[in-house]
Amino acid sequence: MDLPRLIAHRTVRTYLDDPVTDDSLRQVVDVARWTGSARNRQPWRFVAVRDAPTKQALARLGAYAGHLATAPVVLLVLSPVERRLDTEFDVGRVVQSIFLAATDAGLGCGVVSLYPEEHSRDAADLVDADDGWTARHAIALGRPGPRPTGGTLAVPAGRLPLEELLTFH
Ligand SMILES: Cc1cc2nc3c(=O)[nH]c(=O)nc-3n(C[C@H](O)[C@H](O)[C@H](O)COP(=O)(O)O)c2cc1C
Repeated sequence: MDLPRLIAHRTVRTYLDDPVTDDSLRQVVDVARWTGSARNRQPWRFVAVRDAPTKQALARLGAYAGHLATAPVVLLVLSPVERRLDTEFDVGRVVQSIFLAATDAGLGCGVVSLYPEEHSRDAADLVDADDGWTARHAIALGRPGPRPTGGTLAVPAGRLPLEELLTFH
């Protein structure tokens, strides 16, 4: 496993039109479903969305969700409406697993937050999610397109230095 390469892969927000097959989505989620969670609750479900009007509607449910409309597939991440203390931690782990598995399969990913909570419920309603499940995050997936050049980033790039992150006691 070339972990440094996988981890170093950045968020992708532009995609080629190449299709993402159901089989490749199954492979990605089949890897990610082995992610650990508190008490093995696995507080996650996934819905793959290809339908253009639904992707466009999802793209309106987050402040920075525009690229959901242009990705070949959006993987909607469902989690329980009634959150436990560990739920967000667990969901973050499984989303990272999806990110790594998808990158390994040659797919680019962009994680998006759907908020406020009302928007999360609207997103869940768009895919007829079962009662008790909401959609706080979505993952845009597709073959990476050319990275945009120029412009100003909305958030800072790069990472804090190792010395600032890790100390020894
Ligand atoms: C929980 C979470 C929510 C995020 N929400 C959004 C989002 O709504 N829109 C977006 O474009 N990127 C979103 N991102 C991506 C981050 O902006 C990105 O990971 C960060 O800026 C670092 O950039 P890099 O992944 O390219 O290194 C999110 C990432 C995480 C982990």
